[in-house]
Amino acid sequence: MHQHTLALSAHLQDAVVTCFGDTYAGIDPELRPATRREFGHLQSNLPLRLAGPLGLPPREIGARLIDAVDPGGLATLELAGAGFINITWSPDVLGAAVGDLFTDPHLGVRTPETRQRVVVDYSSPNVAKQMHVGHLRSTVIGDSLARVLTYAGHEVVRQNHLGDWGTQFGMLVEELLGEGLRDPAAVSGLDMAELLALYQRAKARFDDDPGFADSARRRVVALQSGEPTTLALWQALVDASMAEFDAVYGRLGVLLTGDDFDGESRYNPQLPGIVDDLRTSGLLTESAGAQVVYPDGFTGRDGAALPLIVRKADGGFGYAATDLATIRHRVDDLAVDRVVYVVDHRQSQHFDMVFAVARAAGWLPESVEVQHIGFGTVLGPDGRPFKTRSGETVTLTALLDAAEEAAAASYAGPEVVRAVANAAVKYADLSNHLARDYVFDLARMSATTGETGPYLQYAHARVSSILAQAPQQAYAVGTPSHPAEQRLALELTGFAPVVAKVADTLEPHHLTAYLYGLATALTGFYESCPVLKAEGEVRQTRLALCEATRRVLSAGLGLLGIEAPRRM
Ligand code: ARG
Repeated sequence: MHQHTLALSAHLQDAVVTCFGDTYAGIDPELRPATRREFGHLQSNLPLRLAGPLGLPPREIGARLIDAVDPGGLATLELAGAGFINITWSPDVLGAAVGDLFTDPHLGVRTPETRQRVVVDYSSPNVAKQMHVGHLRSTVIGDSLARVLTYAGHEVVRQNHLGDWGTQFGMLVEELLGEGLRDPAAVSGLDMAELLALYQRAKARFDDDPGFADSARRRVVALQSGEPTTLALWQALVDASMAEFDAVYGRLGVLLTGDDFDGESRYNPQLPGIVDDLRTSGLLTESAGAQVVYPDGFTGRDGAALPLIVRKADGGFGYAATDLATIRHRVDDLAVDRVVYVVDHRQSQHFDMVFAVARAAGWLPESVEVQHIGFGTVLGPDGRPFKTRSGETVTLTALLDAAEEAAAASYAGPEVVRAVANAAVKYADLSNHLARDYVFDLARMSATTGETGPYLQYAHARVSSILAQAPQQAYAVGTPSHPAEQRLALELTGFAPVVAKVADTLEPHHLTAYLYGLATALTGFYESCPVLKAEGEVRQTRLALCEATRRVLSAGLGLLGIEAPRRM
């Protein structure tokens, strides 16, 4: 369709030159989707824009342009309102555009001019802690972005930056030893509830017993120096958590696997080098015993420069040092063009400062784009951050259980129930502007009407069931003659541009809105165009429109990480 839009623009440009001379050669008619259905398919406000420079009434300009233009059978043009040109594609063009979808497994999405290697850093839960709704958002958004970027032709490297290192492991290992749990094989079999209980016992002892706190600190040193017993128990804790995270990923149906883990621990050996290199390049300053960098342009509320702490006063390396080492690895070893961090928007200052320091240190060339895709908080029904009644963070498992329970009320069969529950949760998460907080309202997001994941799955299942009643060897799109057929055909041509837009903006809500619009056009089509009862070429065209819509719905939902069952 893109080539037709370009051709039509060129025809309008020619008409401008014919009517008003070379001065206006090359002016962009700015063809935009029509704001209202009655206006046709596209609109141009060219006459209004030319009125000033030409000193003529816009309607007169419009009439002369329409008279002069030769749209070459692509479309019909009409003067409207104060001086708009309304454009309606010819039915043949629309039919041919739908026909093109059948010859292209990528549904019109073309590979980009420059194929980028993109790291998507997402999910990133912390070992021996529960995955919470924030990690859910990162997992769902990152999964969709990874799928869209891949589909759009980029090379995606998924990285799950697991929180598997830090001082808390001193305390955890010390607690294990104190309780006589010395066998790594047994520890690696702990489930999430047991890991959390261990964490709580360790934390309580650490806070109450100064002797324990001291040995926990010594244990951190043992871990950092690679003492075998400590290291084996740490690894067992990591393994136990990874098994639990993997189970959640499987349940959610996301792409992440064990191969994508890229935990903080792997950067531990590089951390002293980070500090040394920052010192050599003159960026490092000492502040209250800590080693810090003051990147340009960051000040706190009091106007004082903000430090990025690279090494704490107690000698430990922080989260920021690890992120700096991670950037070096991604640039030097992975040769990335772009890094996308899908992390809660409360960490935006952390990332801005890390990026600034990495650029200043020369580790992050200008040619590599780094973006923090921050997202808002999931709120409970009371409009406050989602908590259980007793005030604890809602666990991911509890949340998915509730979504499955809601789906089970309307659907049968464990696979469909799971697919619907995931669709409800994911669509609700992806259909807002990412930065916005949203209320986790299960009844609303699980409804089969309105803008929800289950509604789109239902639209797909409904069209699949029509198609199942009229199996075809091949689909033949004729000329869509009914306005509802044309409307649906037009919507179908919007898939490729919206995928490109999401790959560019990293905003999945454009795709959710597009799919909802497509499902709405499908409903309008059903209302006025019987499919199975139609005959001859009309029936062939309608079946082809159904199948093209089914493919686009299925592919589009797939890019959101949502399954599209044929029966529900
Ligand atoms: N583990 C961190 C957390 O739970 C998120 C890590 C995000 N990625 C990164 N490269 N810092 O908050």
